[in-house]
Amino acid sequence: MISALFRNAVIYSPVDSPVPLSGVTQGHVTSYKKGALFCKNGIIEKVGEEEDVLRQLSSDEVDMEVNCEGSCLIPGFVDPHTHICFADRREQEFSLRIAGTPYLEILKAGGGILSSVHAVKKASEDELFESTLTHVLSALELGTTTIEIKSGYGLDTETELKMLRVIQRIRKETPLDVAITFMGAHAVPKEYKENPDEYVRLMIEEMIPAISQQGIAEFCDVFCEEGVFSVGQSRAILEAARKHGMKLRIHADEVHDIGGAKLAAELPTISAEHLLAASEENLKAMAHAGVIANLLPATAYSLRKPYASARRMIELSVPVALATDCNPGSCFTESMPFVFGLAVMNMHMTVEEALVGTTLNGAWSLGMEKKVGSLSVGKQADFLLLDGESPAVLAYHAGVSPVFAVYKKGVRVA
Ligand code: NIG
Ligand code: FE
Repeated sequence: MISALFRNAVIYSPVDSPVPLSGVTQGHVTSYKKGALFCKNGIIEKVGEEEDVLRQLSSDEVDMEVNCEGSCLIPGFVDPHTHICFADRREQEFSLRIAGTPYLEILKAGGGILSSVHAVKKASEDELFESTLTHVLSALELGTTTIEIKSGYGLDTETELKMLRVIQRIRKETPLDVAITFMGAHAVPKEYKENPDEYVRLMIEEMIPAISQQGIAEFCDVFCEEGVFSVGQSRAILEAARKHGMKLRIHADEVHDIGGAKLAAELPTISAEHLLAASEENLKAMAHAGVIANLLPATAYSLRKPYASARRMIELSVPVALATDCNPGSCFTESMPFVFGLAVMNMHMTVEEALVGTTLNGAWSLGMEKKVGSLSVGKQADFLLLDGESPAVLAYHAGVSPVFAVYKKGVRVA
């Protein structure tokens, strides 16, 4: 297929801007009541009201025509934060958590992330690929067309590289665009429990140089948290990664306010993740430094924590993006529709703000804003058809996915 015309759709898309959308522009969305989108070789060439698009097209230009029958058409979701490369499930841990054991207690006792590390070390590269593929394809069914995937269940050079190769294979063998993040600083491995600085040294002197030499991760992320990596250790790791050409992200103030958001603003990182406990002062510093807040409401839901203060962040002009955090522990979901619903219902974002958060601002946080995240001429024709009149259906029709068709570069993939 060379060119395709999608007509008779209610189209909604964030409006591109030279910077991530924040404050009053966080909800900057355009819509076409009876819209059409025309793409050629996977790239959007025209989008607008159907009569305008048709006027600019001659019939011999159109190889294929799809009547969307009045359904809603939005950009494919960009999920900018996942740990979807894993080999195990942790259902027993979930039962402990809902009975009251805190998430960080489980990690301290050698479970949690560390039990996933055990499973990933044991799995063959093919097994790890198959398990990752299953979850990535379910994300695609649910409308995710661009995804970030972190390593971080290896915690030694060899196993981290194994994870990164698996993620690269996902990039090659699925239709999704995949951003790859090295997260050796996800937990302190058991062998280094008494001497975490030694593990930090290993990451700085061995892992980061090896990974950067192979060029298989564009980002580096750190879990900056009480009992995991301190602000000082996180800074040292992220500065080393930056020296080796990686872009930075940080799990900041997920459980305790230890100053992760402040560090994000100081470095600065592209994004800071979670921010459930971040202070007002540090959010202001993030706004000033232009750091994107990647909010993960499904994790707050699963950890039964108060949601991040999305409204306050928008008031302070921190750009907000939304992600699943898909992982076997703190939050097991591949569903961006679920995240969308939580953002609207429980974080009180407007439908337009959540649409920007699940698409364009996520793309910004992955440095892919020129390619995906909105339905602009020149971008990839990555889009979804929803069973509903507007993106509000993503919150309205709860507990199911209203996504009934997924297109990547103009081709139906789910
Ligand atoms: O973002 N907080 C650290 N990492 C993940 C959880 C990973 C896991 O529990 O396996 C998170 O919540
Ligand atoms: Fe995470």
